[in-house]
Amino acid sequence: MVNHLAIIMDGNGRWAEERGLSRSDGHRAGARQIGVAARAAMNAGIKYLTLYAFSTENWKRPKDEVTVLMELISEFAKSELPNMLRDGVRLRTIGRTADLPPASRAALEFAIKQTANNDKLTINIALSYGGRAEIVDAVNKIIAEKRTAPVTEQDFVSYLYAPDIPDPDLLIRTGGEMRLSNFLLWELSYAELYVTETYWPDFTEETLEQALASFGGRKRRFGGLNKK
Ligand code: IPE
Ligand code: IPE
Ligand code: MG
Repeated sequence: MVNHLAIIMDGNGRWAEERGLSRSDGHRAGARQIGVAARAAMNAGIKYLTLYAFSTENWKRPKDEVTVLMELISEFAKSELPNMLRDGVRLRTIGRTADLPPASRAALEFAIKQTANNDKLTINIALSYGGRAEIVDAVNKIIAEKRTAPVTEQDFVSYLYAPDIPDPDLLIRTGGEMRLSNFLLWELSYAELYVTETYWPDFTEETLEQALASFGGRKRRFGGLNKK
């Protein structure tokens, strides 16, 4: 059973290039699929959906592309809010979101507040997110507390960005690349991995069903024996 699904939403640029469109058009098409993915996840009984939308390394992209992505984030937070309220979806973010432009932050914060009491599905968007940054930020929180007691794994989790969200069961990466690209390095330790060649703008409920069918055939052992 997939309780928490994480997705690396990759391939917007290649999707657009293959159609003679701009990379920005690809990102626009990709942003539209987030609602599709959220509804598909909800239909599948998934409770947490973490989406990699912008990495700490993505700031290296051309300024125009970054601007479009930041605008799409505000648009998403505004245009999806009525659907989230209707469907009982709670919005969250993880990452160094203080780095985002004020307009994107404001739109996100508004939607996060409005949806805070919803519990059907939590959509957790990773923005200016890096797995290494998350671990370093956790270490710096510990230092700032002047904590001297040794830290257990359980304690350490409480300093991460979303300590209340359980680890992902399944990671889907669209666009075919077999790498993590600095996503959820701590949390993905025992996640099942599923890579599809499908580009993110072509992601549908069927893509999710295929991933879930693959997950259903896996034996998760967590280092032990015969655990399902
Ligand atoms: C993913 O699509 C979206 C972001 C990284 C923001 P890409 O823009 O990486 O698309 P490709 O990988 O170049 O096709
Ligand atoms: C990962 O995709 C980041 C997001 C999908 C937001 P990238 O396109 O940035 O990753 P690389 O460069 O292929 O590793
Ligand atoms: Mg990419």
